[in-house]
Amino acid sequence: MDRWIGKTAVVTGASAGIGRAIAKLLAENGLTVVAVARREERLKELAASISNSKGGKIVPFTADITKEDQAVAAVRHADSLGGVSVLVNNAGAIQLTQTINGEMDKWRHMFELNVFSLGPLLREGVKSMKNHKIDGHIINVSSISAHGLPMDGGKHIYNATKHAVRVITEGVRAELTAIGSKIKITMISPGVVDTEIFEAGLNPIDVSKMRTLPMLKSEDIALACQHILSTPPNVQVPTYFLKFRLSYYLQ
Ligand SMILES: NC(=O)c1ccc[n+]([C@@H]2O[C@H](COP(=O)([O-])OP(=O)(O)OC[C@H]3O[C@@H](n4cnc5c(N)ncnc54)[C@H](OP(=O)(O)O)[C@@H]3O)[C@@H](O)[C@H]2O)c1
Repeated sequence: MDRWIGKTAVVTGASAGIGRAIAKLLAENGLTVVAVARREERLKELAASISNSKGGKIVPFTADITKEDQAVAAVRHADSLGGVSVLVNNAGAIQLTQTINGEMDKWRHMFELNVFSLGPLLREGVKSMKNHKIDGHIINVSSISAHGLPMDGGKHIYNATKHAVRVITEGVRAELTAIGSKIKITMISPGVVDTEIFEAGLNPIDVSKMRTLPMLKSEDIALACQHILSTPPNVQVPTYFLKFRLSYYLQ
């Protein structure tokens, strides 16, 4: 990880769960992390929690990334700090909804956050890496559900967004390869992780039974991120799967 010391990262959804753990670990590895989310107090608390000898830090950046101008501003702030070396597209949400009910507020919320926000973040992130001649790394946090179809009701639209992230990730890889870029891109596909995402939706999801199992922790995903970023330039990690012991395929 030493080659990333002093470099700048952007992590979306850094106020909670997986994004918070990734931002913290990157800062502890010596990176300056532009930590993006809407809840400013949470970001300030994260910034204050960092203490390390490698000089890394958290730069809180309050933004709603479903608003294009705010997503762009977050990446441009990182650009002004020396250019984006690492871009972690992590912010996401799940809303349970039956496909045939057409609850468009839930469809829109998930697609705007989980999928459409990637557009400006990827565009500005790649632009910054190119302008600063950085062979950077993009990490998209998707889900194990991007690799199959759910059997139980209510999750199909969420899964559709994560399938979209998978296809978009491969699109970025193809386009970067076509122009001979050394920028790398990886999709992380976790199974169920013990975070507040299940309570954050309009209708909370009961995961109390799941919580009796050895669920993944946000820190496990952060370690995966560290592993991916530690690989040498010749190594490509297209997808990084993590599931908790005892889980089924789509958990
Ligand atoms: N937990 C799981 O079981 C699991 C499994 C597989 C994949 N994932 C994926 O992992 C990612 C992170 O999930 P998590 O479980 O860590 O969720 P979480 O604990 O609910 O955290 C979500 C983060 O996204 C941020 N966010 C939400 N809306 C935003 C917006 N409009 N603009 C900017 N930031 C926004 C939240 O911050 P603010 O509310 O402060 O804005 C928060 O920091 C998601 O993409 C999720 O789909 C999760």
